[in-house]
Amino acid sequence: MDFLDLARRRCSVRAFEKRPVEPDKVDRILEAARVAPTARNLQPYRLLVLDEPDALARLSKACRTFDAPLAIVVIGDNNEVWVRPYDAKDSLDIDASIVTAHMMLEAEDLGLGSCWVCSFRPEVVRAEFGVPGHLTPVNVLVFGYPSGPKKSPTRHDTERRPLSETVVRNHF
Ligand SMILES: Cc1cc2nc3c(=O)[nH]c(=O)nc-3n(C[C@H](O)[C@H](O)[C@H](O)COP(=O)(O)O)c2cc1C
Repeated sequence: MDFLDLARRRCSVRAFEKRPVEPDKVDRILEAARVAPTARNLQPYRLLVLDEPDALARLSKACRTFDAPLAIVVIGDNNEVWVRPYDAKDSLDIDASIVTAHMMLEAEDLGLGSCWVCSFRPEVVRAEFGVPGHLTPVNVLVFGYPSGPKKSPTRHDTERRPLSETVVRNHF
């Protein structure tokens, strides 16, 4: 499929069938993460894969999981991340989010639905999964087979700003 068609078709899915995601599909999602670009190719992240009911129940103490059968917590490594020398800004959130976006789009390509969840309690994720102090949970992605209809690919006509509002050419 054309990439733009895939990107238009993807939407946040918040209701899932109970059936699990097949291991080969999980592997492809993780491979999509692996090949993602990161600042200076430092790959400063860990992927916490949650596919057992007990682990998913523990995640649901930290955020809404929409009863998804699979979740991946994208966790940045503060010891490995690139830091910009000019102002000490690090690329932790950026790197983790590119990895997250790769996985989200691969899931769409596999016929799965996903939802990116940032509204989680980091301290609960830390406590429930024993996340070491130098690692920072950045994003949660939940996956599964969508139950019910997905949003229309044409919704962007009204739900997204027109380029005329967001694109600046050459000078503000
Ligand atoms: C950085 C980020 C954080 C988000 N956090 C949440 C969240 O905590 N809970 C949720 O239900 N959706 C969350 N979303 C999904 C957005 O609400 C959704 O992508 C947006 O409304 C556009 O809708 P669409 O994904 O269906 O195109 C998040 C998305 C992004 C990119």
